[in-house]
Amino acid sequence: MAKKAAKRLLRALAGDAMARPPWWLMRQAGRYLPEYRALRARAGSFVEFCLSPALAAEATVQPVRRFGMDAGILFADILLVARALGQPLDYTEDGPQLAPLDPASGLRSLNGAGVAALAPVYETVRLARAELPADVALIGFAGAPWTVATYMVEGGASRDFRRVKGWAYRDPAGFTALIDLLVDATVGYLAEQIAAGADAVQLFDSWAGVLPDCEFTRWVIKPTREIAQRLKRRFPTVPIIGFPRGAGFLYERYAAESGVDALGLDTTVPLAVARERLQSRLPVQGNLDPVALVVGGRALDEAVAAIRDGLGGGGFVFNLGHGVLPQTPPENIAALARLLAR
Ligand code: CP3
Repeated sequence: MAKKAAKRLLRALAGDAMARPPWWLMRQAGRYLPEYRALRARAGSFVEFCLSPALAAEATVQPVRRFGMDAGILFADILLVARALGQPLDYTEDGPQLAPLDPASGLRSLNGAGVAALAPVYETVRLARAELPADVALIGFAGAPWTVATYMVEGGASRDFRRVKGWAYRDPAGFTALIDLLVDATVGYLAEQIAAGADAVQLFDSWAGVLPDCEFTRWVIKPTREIAQRLKRRFPTVPIIGFPRGAGFLYERYAAESGVDALGLDTTVPLAVARERLQSRLPVQGNLDPVALVVGGRALDEAVAAIRDGLGGGGFVFNLGHGVLPQTPPENIAALARLLAR
């Protein structure tokens, strides 16, 4: 039997300090890549794209083929779960649009088939896993319940989260029912991705940073812990990366209590704090400012060196602190790949 190739990403997520850190980039598939734009033009709507396994697998592999990252991330979107639960979803120039859930009628309008309807995504995982080199990891992902709930209740992006927070404060029992539904759906969705071949999974909690202390415990930490515990029972060795973007001072509690195996750091987490208070507990991933990658040159060289100096002594995966911006010149990512190979 062939020896199983050691995936560098999995070594770092297990806590090994590596001279050359493994790397991948959040939103590494996307509009900044000409080959992505060509694929996107063939795909119809963005939802159809995500639900076309051959096209989505190709989008997953494209950045790895061009830049040689240590991991591909499944090409899909966090809001496919909302759609599978029965909420109409569309993507426009202004981002995702959903018919907002009405707190007064609660979950009654959600009568979709659930995550079984996302079988095409699991097929994408199988196709991408077969296509990627054996030493490159495939990362599955989902939105964390709080972040998916914000889009479901606000109907899209929000400035003040008045509607979703309003529901949570006025009717915590009703809002808990939504979060519980999302916990179940997320466990099912990630379990199917792992069964189809994902080597690790990431939970994106993009809006973790808008909640006060008590609400953070209730709507971020608690659901994340439930998801982590339930996945661990079935897949004890598959690492779960939690990304509570913007959590600030609450990062430390998230690291201690959420049950994830590794911590995605956003751009604002200071490296010394990350090293002393977070990496001492869990492997970390991050946290280059995506704008430094747009700018390139000396700004990029210096930022990359600082992050490697700060975090390279422990379990560490190099990444951005948020997603690749569409304005990013692909040659800057090639330059990043060369820097990280040194
Ligand atoms: O390359 C990858 O990272 C894999 C695929 C991926 C997408 N979305 C594809 C996508 C991943 C991991 C996501 C996560 C995601 N989606 C998050 C969490 C990360 C974050 O950015 O905070 C969120 C909040 C969403 C919801 C979402 N999807 C928004 C807000 C938008 C519009 C804004 C934008 O960035 O374009 C999307 C659309 C989307 N998801 C695109 C892609 C490639 C762009 C659609 C297009 O090609 O026209």
